[in-house]
Amino acid sequence: MDTEFVQIKDVEMDKEWLVRAGEFIRLGELVAFPTETVYGLGGNALAPEASRRIYAAKGRPSDNPLIVHIARFSELAPLVKEVPESAVRLAKAFWPGPLTMILPKSECVPLETTGGLDTVAVRMPNHPVARELISESHCPIAAPSANVSGRPSPTCAEHVKEDLDGKIAMILDGGSVDIGLESTIIDLTGKPMVLRPGYITTEMLSAVLGKAVTIDPALLSVDNSKRPKAPGMKYRHYAPRAQLLIVEGEDQKVVEHINRLSAEQRLQGKKAAVIATEETILCYQADVVLCIGKRTDEDAIARHLYELLRQCDTLKIDQIYSESFATPRIGGAIMNRLLKAAGHQVVEV
Ligand code: TXA
Ligand code: MG
Repeated sequence: MDTEFVQIKDVEMDKEWLVRAGEFIRLGELVAFPTETVYGLGGNALAPEASRRIYAAKGRPSDNPLIVHIARFSELAPLVKEVPESAVRLAKAFWPGPLTMILPKSECVPLETTGGLDTVAVRMPNHPVARELISESHCPIAAPSANVSGRPSPTCAEHVKEDLDGKIAMILDGGSVDIGLESTIIDLTGKPMVLRPGYITTEMLSAVLGKAVTIDPALLSVDNSKRPKAPGMKYRHYAPRAQLLIVEGEDQKVVEHINRLSAEQRLQGKKAAVIATEETILCYQADVVLCIGKRTDEDAIARHLYELLRQCDTLKIDQIYSESFATPRIGGAIMNRLLKAAGHQVVEV
C-alpha cells in the first residue's frame, strides 16, 4: 500500500486533507495522526475490521485493548454503560488533555477494540489535528501509539514513517508532540486507580476527586509476579534494540561508572551511548553522548526520551547507559517508561 504523507500546518487551511483522512477512517482504513502525548494510529473504533487492521499493522497482541478517542464530551455517553460523577469531574478538569478513563463499555463498542474486555478506555485529545480528524471521521477513533509493537512510541511523524510506511493509508504530520509520554490511564470501574502514570499525576487526580487515588501496585513491583491491570503494561514496551542500563547515584560517581563501562564496551568492539542531562553531558567519554535536557526541566526530559531511544537504534548502539531522572512531578511517569525500556536493569553506585 502507498502511504500518503501529508503536512498539516493549519487545520483550517489544510482542511481538504483532513476531510480525506476522515474518509479513510470511515472506509475502515488507518490514518496516523499527532496528539499532544504521542502519535496515534487511528481507525474507526466501532468497526471490528478496523481494529483488526490496527493490531496487524502494529504487530500487537490482540488481547491488548485500544484507547478510543473522542472530540466532544457528549461523545462519551454512547460508548459507556453510564457516565459517573467522577468522570464528569475529571473531564471538566483535564479534557481535552492527556487523561484516559476506563469505564464499563456499552454494546456499540466491539470486543475487537477492547481486546475482549467489557470495559473501554476513552480519551479526548487536545491536539487540533486529532480533534479535527475525529470530527471529520464522524466516529470515535481507536488509536494506540503509532509504533510497531515493542518499539519506542513515536513523537514525530518521521518516527511513524520508520515503523508504518507502506502499511497504512495516511500519515498526518503535525510536527513534534508537546508531552512525549502516553496519557495517564485511570480506571473508574471500582476505586479510582492509575493503571499507567503520565503527565496528569496521581496528586492532580486526587485533588479533583476529593479522595486518594492509588496506583496499580503491579507497576511499583520490580519482579513480574504481579499482573498489571492495563494489559499493555505487562509487555516490554518502549524498548530500544540495544541493552539499556540505568545508573543511579551521586553525579560524580555515575559519570565515573558510566565512563568505565563505556571503555569496557569499546575494548569488546561494542558501541556504547550515554543518555545524560545538560549538567553532566561534557563529562562523558562514550562513542555517543546524547543530551535529554536540563535536569530540572522534566517537560524536556519527557519530550526527548523516546526520540533518544530511537536515535540509539538508528546509530546501531549495542549498549545504552542512562542517568536516572526521578524529578518531582512527572518523574514517576518518566522513570516508569525508562525502567520498562531497561527491563528494570538498574545499578546504584
Ligand atoms: O497518549 C495516549 O494514550 C496514546 C495516544 C495515541 O492517545 N495512546 C496510547 O495507546 O498510548 P496504547 O495503545 O499504546 O496504550 C493503551 C494502553 C495499553 O496499556 C492498554 O493495555 C491500556 O491502555 N488499556 C486500554 N483499554 C483498557 C481497558 N479497557 N482496561 C485496562 N487497560 C486498558
Ligand atoms: Mg503504545
